[in-house]
Amino acid sequence: MKLILLGPPGAGKGTQAKRLEERHGIVQISTGDMLRAEVAAGTPIGREAKAVMEAGKLVSDDILVRMLSSRLDKPDAARGFILDGFPRTVPQAQALDMMLAGKNLSLDAVIELQVDDAALTDRIAGRFTCAKCGTGYHDQFKPTAKAGVCDVCGSTEFTRRADDNRETVGARLDAYHKQTAPIIPHYAQAGILQVVDGMASIDEVARQIDQVLAEIH
Ligand code: AP5
Ligand code: MG
Repeated sequence: MKLILLGPPGAGKGTQAKRLEERHGIVQISTGDMLRAEVAAGTPIGREAKAVMEAGKLVSDDILVRMLSSRLDKPDAARGFILDGFPRTVPQAQALDMMLAGKNLSLDAVIELQVDDAALTDRIAGRFTCAKCGTGYHDQFKPTAKAGVCDVCGSTEFTRRADDNRETVGARLDAYHKQTAPIIPHYAQAGILQVVDGMASIDEVARQIDQVLAEIH
């Protein structure tokens, strides 16, 4: 299965991509995670991306298209993938079409998670991640079972993203509405757009996505 998870910052793309990865054995490809790894490693791409990401703006199409193209060539993507955070602009969507056509592949579905802007700020402000295994949590909506201890690996160290603050969220939402939302009609016209109510609980959103995928296959 080849899917795109589309939605504004905090919509639940990462949360649902992880679940799909576990249930369907297809790999999550998160361009945000890839860029954060470049920043942490201090690579030339990371140095270029750091300030752009912290300002809530989009990193250049050129960098992202090259990054995604080489990621899709890795063997684990052969069985299918969930794109989380790509494409994010019309040129990226066009480049993806060409990349997939060149590999004789096509997308099964583009799942749009619809969430009100007001709810997104709360989701982002409360998000934290296990520093050791990367499991994602939320202060209110998905707390750890035992305070301060990761449910999965038992680590007591957690991180919060540098761009997860109320000021940057405004710029990220602006970028989504101006630069990313215009790609939605492209997939609607292609007949592969599936809209899911991202305001529901995490479990309910996962159920809706499974229903959509069951209907496709
Ligand atoms: P990226 O990492 O992709 O961030 P984003 O799109 O802003 O999305 P988030 O990761 O913030 O949200 P999410 O939808 O994954 O939500 P999550 O599941 O964590 O990109 C970061 C930056 O990198 C960009 O700003 C840009 O600079 C750059 N970049 C990346 N890709 C790029 C590209 N292609 N082109 C150019 N630049 C690029 O959920 C959020 C929180 O809510 C969590 O705490 C979770 O537990 C909770 N939650 C999730 N679902 C629910 C629910 N249903 N109910 C209640 N709580 C929920
Ligand atoms: Mg994410």
